[in-house]
Amino acid sequence: MPVYLDNAATSFPKPPGVAEAVTTAIGTIGGSPGRGAHRHARQAMSIMKECRAKAALVLGVSDPDRVIFTGNATESLNVVLKGFLRPGDRVVISGMEHNSVVRPLQRISAQGVAYVISPRGSCEEIDMAAFETMVATKPRLAVMVHASNVNGALMPVDRAAEICARHGVPLLLDAAQSAGVQPILAEARGLGMVACSGHKSLLGPAGVGLLYVRPDLEVSQLMEGGTGSRSEDFNQPEFCPDRYESGTPNLPGLAGLSAGIDFILREGLERIREHELGLATILENKLSEISGVKVLSPGVRGIGTISFVAGSMNAADIGFILDEAFEIAVRAGLHCAPLAHRTLGTFPEGTVRVSPGYSTTEEEIEYFLKSLRSILDKGRR
Ligand code: ALA
Repeated sequence: MPVYLDNAATSFPKPPGVAEAVTTAIGTIGGSPGRGAHRHARQAMSIMKECRAKAALVLGVSDPDRVIFTGNATESLNVVLKGFLRPGDRVVISGMEHNSVVRPLQRISAQGVAYVISPRGSCEEIDMAAFETMVATKPRLAVMVHASNVNGALMPVDRAAEICARHGVPLLLDAAQSAGVQPILAEARGLGMVACSGHKSLLGPAGVGLLYVRPDLEVSQLMEGGTGSRSEDFNQPEFCPDRYESGTPNLPGLAGLSAGIDFILREGLERIREHELGLATILENKLSEISGVKVLSPGVRGIGTISFVAGSMNAADIGFILDEAFEIAVRAGLHCAPLAHRTLGTFPEGTVRVSPGYSTTEEEIEYFLKSLRSILDKGRR
């Protein structure tokens, strides 16, 4: 039986209603939101509005117009890093960040933006005392991933938000993996900015991301163009979300995201989280019983994602055999997060990552474990 355990890359299968919503947007509704006053455009606009309102609920933002649609979490992060930071600015990041944070920072470091990496703690992924010392030097921004795409660690966002607030430093939260599983609470936590993807735990299709920017923070847009608003003006509108949303929006993607969020709201975040963390516990316990397997257990687990190394056997080989011989999809290697792997001590070989989703069953986890045992047994012979 084919088993999909790569939900950290993208969730699959999507819940009922998502594919239908995408198809209806393309095949029936047509029209571009805000472009034209005819019924197709009006219907398109109402889908977009509905999606924005639901996304605001998920992010914990009271005014839906503060939720910006982007192409993915990477774009959201790029908008903030390139639109907020200026030459001479300093940024503190955690050692668990993804390349979608590290690479833009690496690029703008050539323009005089300096970033420093907060070190690992003795039993957690970040040393919060060191983080506070760094934030106390008043960098322009602090960046923290909410839940690690490598080992599922839940980062101490409440403490980080409190430290950042005390020192007047905005905190950018990368919620790419956590939105849809963990509460984001952007306003309640006083977060500066939040970036997340629509196709992971928010269960929408690829091609949609979300960005929240606190109203007091000045973040420049990366693009100018048609917004469907103030068309008489040569200047880009300054109000949110239009300022950041130039060009025809991805209506099919937004319709699908809206259906994905509907599913989450119906099921409830807690139930989704319990299911995924329950599977992660089974995985973690049973993997740890296999001789030679070492699970990268997080200080606090936030999502179902598990990473492990298996003695002398290469992670990529295990991933390959799982796919070829057992039809099991996992992701092996560095997971676009070499910094996190350095922090966890698994660079450059990387790990095998198993990421169950809400539709994953215990039987599938058992099948994966049985298949892995047989691969490792053969490898030992
Ligand atoms: N960042 C995604 C992953 O972890 C794509 O696989």
